[in-house]
Amino acid sequence: KLLGTVGAAGAAGLALGAAGGAATYATAAGPAGTALATVGSTAVPFRGTHQAGILQPLQARGHLVAFDLAPGAGRKEATALMRRWSAVAERLMAGEPAGDGDTGVALDAGPSSLTVTFGFGASFFDRTGLVARRPAELDPLPAFSSDRLDARRSGGDLWVQIGADDALVAFHALRAVQKEAGAAAKVRWQMNGFNRSPGATAQPMTARNLMGQVDGTRNPKPSEPDFQERVFVPAGGDQPWMAGGSYAVVRRIRMLLDDWEKLPLERQERVIGRRKSDGAPLTGGGETTEIDLDRTGPDGKLVVPDNAHARISAPEQNGGAAMLRRPFSFHDGIGTDGTPDAGLLFIAWQADPRRGFVPVQRKLDRGDALSPFIRHEASGLFAVPGGPGEGEYVGQRLLE
Ligand code: HEM
Repeated sequence: KLLGTVGAAGAAGLALGAAGGAATYATAAGPAGTALATVGSTAVPFRGTHQAGILQPLQARGHLVAFDLAPGAGRKEATALMRRWSAVAERLMAGEPAGDGDTGVALDAGPSSLTVTFGFGASFFDRTGLVARRPAELDPLPAFSSDRLDARRSGGDLWVQIGADDALVAFHALRAVQKEAGAAAKVRWQMNGFNRSPGATAQPMTARNLMGQVDGTRNPKPSEPDFQERVFVPAGGDQPWMAGGSYAVVRRIRMLLDDWEKLPLERQERVIGRRKSDGAPLTGGGETTEIDLDRTGPDGKLVVPDNAHARISAPEQNGGAAMLRRPFSFHDGIGTDGTPDAGLLFIAWQADPRRGFVPVQRKLDRGDALSPFIRHEASGLFAVPGGPGEGEYVGQRLLE
């Protein structure tokens, strides 16, 4: 499975913790020296070609936060903020405390696969006087007929994605990021999500969403020859600072679960075109068997219906448009209408949203069988620069 590769051995992260001199975190072991379980000890490197939080396995907990630069804050303040955020992210991802005044929320825990990922919204470039370096890929997403977007929970100058396999480790990172924002930036919106915990299934497998479907099967895989060009910005583009980066489309998609759960299983499966139990196409085989979009049944009708989600969203139907979906589920209790305020924090990664999310969503908007059961409630598009090299902070190639 694509997301089945773990960034680095846990021991490496703990060793870094020790080098940082953080006594409480150094061994992250009990009094008798019991080692942490793999879940706690796994550390993801902060530095690399790509930022962490794109290729790692889905974590059990996630926080998405957008910030707006404070009135009067510009490029200088944004630069200082990216330096502070990078420093704290590097420490936390290694399992070290945040620094002076650490809240203590993650004491005793290892890094737990923590990733902290930073992105810039289109408005960031106006605020910092960097419009000439704003990539065309950040042009606003078109409006879709099914959009029910809440502007207050959409957009933002800056975006931070936090993921970890432990809820307290994720919360700890969230508070540290908010604290470091200081007077430079204010939270615009925040969303909290989750995925299955590692170890909950007998073997690692593709995730399920809150509709119960196996979700992520046909994601591009790093082993595929066109993976890099689909997901990451190549070197040598118009905006050299984005080399190794990716564009994140974030959509808060409410699921109308009361309606969905009333559908009989067979109808639910026809909405997607895949079996609920194991994600196999309705044309047969197992989860990874290729879907046969042309097959007709004894009644002469297409086995995978015309409006099935898996048909409409397939790259073969969209001029090759593809994206890496790496979502979190969300559940914020019961909404004002008395139905669950739950669904998918959809996050799609691609080298260019105009060749990824946009054409696919245009097509889905015109007749996806899933549409009556979902509602897009918030939207964001962020330029996520490549990972920091040795001694660099995230976004340095843009801000310097
Ligand atoms: C495939 C669910 C929204 C793009 C799938 C599959 C499921 C699913 C179950 C089949 C398994 C798989 O290949 O992953 C959902 C749900 C959504 C949602 C529950 C909303 C709550 C979206 C949106 C987009 C999208 C908004 C993009 C605009 C795709 C793509 C595939 C896919 C590209 C893979 C198609 C292929 O490569 O054959 N989705 N999806 N989905 N979905 Fe969605």
